[in-house]
Amino acid sequence: MRKIWRYGLPLLATTALWTTTAYCEGGPKPPEQPKAKTIKELVDRYDSSSCLECHEEAHDQWANSLHSRSILGTGRTAPTFITALEVGIKNFPYSGVKEDKDITVEHLKICTKCHLPQLDEATDDVAREIIATIKGWQKAMKAENDAEVEKLEATIASLNINCRVCHNKMAIIHKWSDGYPQPDTVYGSQDGAHEDPDFPKMAVAPALGESIFCGQCHGSGPNFELAHPSQCATLYGSYLFAYTAEGGSESCQECHMVKSGLGHDMQSYNSEEMRKMAVDVEVESRSLFWRKNSAEGVLPMGIVTVEMTNKAGHTIPDG
Ligand code: HEC
Ligand code: HEC
Ligand code: HEC
Ligand code: HEC
Ligand code: HEC
Repeated sequence: MRKIWRYGLPLLATTALWTTTAYCEGGPKPPEQPKAKTIKELVDRYDSSSCLECHEEAHDQWANSLHSRSILGTGRTAPTFITALEVGIKNFPYSGVKEDKDITVEHLKICTKCHLPQLDEATDDVAREIIATIKGWQKAMKAENDAEVEKLEATIASLNINCRVCHNKMAIIHKWSDGYPQPDTVYGSQDGAHEDPDFPKMAVAPALGESIFCGQCHGSGPNFELAHPSQCATLYGSYLFAYTAEGGSESCQECHMVKSGLGHDMQSYNSEEMRKMAVDVEVESRSLFWRKNSAEGVLPMGIVTVEMTNKAGHTIPDG
């Protein structure tokens, strides 16, 4: 019965319902911690540096992925936050934001829902500090003050989607049936004692191995739960409605982590491995002579037929 609630009734008939046998071991909702009041406090709360000691490979792979700099991105994401603020939020008559001092967590949530979900554990001061830091960074770049650029860039990059975000905060999706993530537990695919003194337990969270886990941030369309729905990544939507609907059966994790061999370095076409898996291209060509008209006479001509098949589990590109 429990599984029926997890997947929803429409999927009752699919095999996915029966292949997951492990139960998720969340628990009662933990008491809320006081909100972080500075960027530093928020970063410390999610400090994942201890994980590096024992999970070096996962760490190094993660450090190369965009999850390790989910506000900075490739350098384009942070400036786009500012554009969204200046061109959008400040111009909307009912947003309540005219100046930077009016910004709250709720305003940034139209981006941080996915780019920094842990911001919901911070005060509005932290939302304003993030904007001030990005603006300071842009200013320092204009002034070519390299030391300042480097310092602020490190602060922006310290806000990211790290081990604790995926293996704790976001690991359980259906919390009323499966429980809330517990503060002393790392979630993965096994139960037992865990050697990290801050996280003495490990427990199973089946969703982590399923596409829906990535779907929390990789989007299925407009985010209707927000006061002002935003749309950025919609890849999970195309996975569900264009890939699985056509019989596709692989999960995000199977393609991006296992088949690619990249593990925690989840990548797009920027990586050779993913490019190889992306498209099949078939090219057929022939040449002929074409008798066009008496003025132009006989012309040489080539016909090239190109057939491209998308082998990814969703539309490409996205975002
Ligand atoms: C002192 C060493 C140590 C530290 C520190 C540590 N781990 Fe572990 N962790 C282990 C060992 C050992 C295992 C069991 C590995 C196995 O059986 O494959 C494990 C297992 C796990 C698993 C379950 C893996 C699975 O197969 O499902 C997760 C998730 C995990 N650790 C995450 C973390 C995170 C996140 C941190 C940092 C907050 C962390 N670990 C810190 C040693 C450590
Ligand atoms: C974007 C989300 C995400 C982040 C960030 C993340 N993980 Fe994972 N991790 C996963 C998923 C998904 C799996 C596969 C789970 C499965 O198949 O059941 C996994 C598997 C693991 C495993 C077990 C398999 C293995 O690779 O050994 C360990 C240990 C682990 N992660 C540790 C870490 C550590 C340490 C960090 C931080 C450096 C980290 N993870 C960051 C999503 C994440
Ligand atoms: C539904 C979750 C979600 C929301 C909400 C969201 N994003 Fe994104 N965004 C993503 C994901 C996931 C990616 C990367 C994957 C992709 O492109 O498919 C991304 C990619 C981007 C990129 C492209 C980065 C690059 O270098 O190509 C920018 C820029 C960006 N987001 C800015 C924003 C801004 C600004 C907001 C708020 C106005 C926002 N996003 C809201 C999930 C989201
Ligand atoms: C907590 C939210 C979150 C979760 C969970 C998450 N991602 Fe992401 N992911 C993002 C964001 C945000 C970005 C883009 C950062 C940027 O460029 O600004 C991203 C980037 C990526 C990229 C790189 C896209 C590019 O344009 O190069 C890939 C690939 C990716 N994620 C795959 C996955 C997979 C697979 C999973 C599940 C195992 C997953 N992600 C889980 C938020 C998330
Ligand atoms: C059948 C294999 C397969 C599955 C399943 C799959 N992907 Fe991909 N994905 C790929 C390949 C190959 C690429 C590289 C093509 C590209 O980036 O243009 C890619 C690219 C991406 C990108 C970068 C998109 C861009 O703008 O180019 C993101 C983000 C991503 N995948 C996330 C996911 C998530 C999240 C899921 C699950 C909901 C998923 N993928 C399922 C194979 C897969």
